[in-house]
Amino acid sequence: MSNSCFDPQDDVPVRTEVFDTLADPFRRRLLSAAVLTATGGALAAAGIPLPSLAAGSGRAAGSLLPFGGLPISTQDKVLLPEGYHSKLLFAWGDPVSAGPRAQADATDSAAEQMQQAGMHHDGMHYFPFTEGGKPSSTHGLLCINHEYTDDGLLHSGGMHNWSAEKVAKSKAATGVSVIEVKKQQDEWQVVRPSSFARRISADTPCRLAGPARAHPSMITATDRWGEFVLGTLNNCAMGFTPWGTYLTCEENFNGYFKGAKTPTADQKRYGFTENGFGYRWHEFDERFDLNQHPNEANRFGWVVEIDPWHPDKPPVKRTALGRFKHEGATVTLARDGRVVVYMGDDERFEYIYKFVSKERYIAGQSDTEHLLDEGTLYVARFGDDGKGRWLALRHGEKYPNGALSTENGFNNQGDVAIRCRQAADIAGASKMDRPEWIAVHPKTGEVYVTLTNNSKRGTSEVPGLNAANPRAENVFGHIIRWRERSHDAASTAFEWDVFALAGDPQHPDESKRGTIKGDAYGSPDGLWFDHSGHLWIQTDVSTSVLNKGDYARLGNNQMLVADPQSGVTQRFLTGPNGCEITGITSTPDGRSLFVNIQHPGESASERSDPANPTAISAWPASQFPDAVGGRPRSGTLVISRQDGKEITSAK
Ligand code: FEO
Ligand code: CA
Ligand code: CA
Repeated sequence: MSNSCFDPQDDVPVRTEVFDTLADPFRRRLLSAAVLTATGGALAAAGIPLPSLAAGSGRAAGSLLPFGGLPISTQDKVLLPEGYHSKLLFAWGDPVSAGPRAQADATDSAAEQMQQAGMHHDGMHYFPFTEGGKPSSTHGLLCINHEYTDDGLLHSGGMHNWSAEKVAKSKAATGVSVIEVKKQQDEWQVVRPSSFARRISADTPCRLAGPARAHPSMITATDRWGEFVLGTLNNCAMGFTPWGTYLTCEENFNGYFKGAKTPTADQKRYGFTENGFGYRWHEFDERFDLNQHPNEANRFGWVVEIDPWHPDKPPVKRTALGRFKHEGATVTLARDGRVVVYMGDDERFEYIYKFVSKERYIAGQSDTEHLLDEGTLYVARFGDDGKGRWLALRHGEKYPNGALSTENGFNNQGDVAIRCRQAADIAGASKMDRPEWIAVHPKTGEVYVTLTNNSKRGTSEVPGLNAANPRAENVFGHIIRWRERSHDAASTAFEWDVFALAGDPQHPDESKRGTIKGDAYGSPDGLWFDHSGHLWIQTDVSTSVLNKGDYARLGNNQMLVADPQSGVTQRFLTGPNGCEITGITSTPDGRSLFVNIQHPGESASERSDPANPTAISAWPASQFPDAVGGRPRSGTLVISRQDGKEITSAK
């Protein structure tokens, strides 16, 4: 979503072009047909009454953008179309301000890591300074998530001789970086030192706000009032607000905890297991041991608001937005100015949510300290007829399956927020194929979501196929979109259709060929609109299947750009070996595009061999001579056109 959604002179988003595209006969066909699909056999077998529409047949006639789509790549480098240039701006271990630069052998201490870029860059946003009364396209703050750590790379010797110092370093490499960036003599640089530069880690004090603040289930031995939490973690995708703050989203928080041998039903619903994901933080920080501190688990899984302009302000966990494995938090405004936040819960068969604030946002007048603390949380139900409903997760709400009240363990809205998944189960929401990023078209308000994949869909003892999740063993994923009733983001009804089923057009199995018009991809994850309305798609094919089996012909992870109206898609970037592409933002003038390369060199186990850290990738040092070597490193690129024009403008 671009800054153009929020005109500071206006208290409602620009809506003059809303749904003009409905006049287009192609779009009308989609709406009347309810869903778009071309997978034939598998869907018919599932008894889903779907129309047929021709599958994408390779490159569409005419080029969407001023470049031909790139071929797939298995090279250990970032490739871009001719005429584009990339620079490595900020890689794991680079100082955020005036701190020390990384050591190639990862001998940096935890204290040094706290002054450097963390690992595994993910969601990101550019906040411009104001210059001459306008947002600057040459000077801004970048907020960058550091999702998780590869402890095989992070420490010399990896996880051997596990210690309190190694746990402290892992926590320091997690969280968020805020850096100041400036373009001078045509080159982007990180400003060092900077009074705005900041690292937020898994130990940084955060405030709790909203209905779960001071709730009995939030109280721990070190926080007797349930008001403060140490740290944020697994910071995946993001959002940003019209009042200039950043939203970082806690995703797979369950993996950090040592659970009970026999987890409670509530712990099971969020995936807590006896050994977690093997981060082993609990061995030197007992708050990550649920056997000793069961409520600590309730203090993660939130959207966290960070004010990048005030480095001394603690991050705030906004509990009104619900507790689940948050992928992102995409903000738009309702017609009357209420704040609307779209959010995905990234796990198989989980849900899509939206929050609508109680109060309106009026630029310069609203109390933005509390706007995200009061409102209504909804969860989506997608009907097979192309219509959908937003179901309120409001304490006391009654559904055919039961009520969100005391008989089901919901004594107040704090309980609903903390046990959000269980509340959505009762409401009867649609179980989706792993909802990842959500993007709002800056001109039409149409909302797009990536459903990255779900290899279990349609298998035994799990939910079967439906129109919004139409493929069994969905290894390639898809993108769906919806239009809120009356073009109002606060509406409780919408119409939806499938934008594209991802796949390999040459796949011998017809149901895996997809419907992409143009360049093919699988496992769509990052999703973002630029201010002109181009839809950028980033992929996260798991390293366990990358360039193998179903994915043998799709190459390394990549970034593409699509025309939302025609669906034509062109490949713009291919990444180095073992990476995922995630995180994208732009300067307001559209000339500088920031993109994150996450976990180059990742092995199928997601933990590298410390004896051979560059076994899979030596990026970025292999491509950028100034980069610190020794290990593959996640990094932020800044991409521009050699002729200096806007990334997507005509040549
Ligand atoms: Fe962190 Fe669902 O990606
Ligand atoms: Ca993701
Ligand atoms: Ca993903």
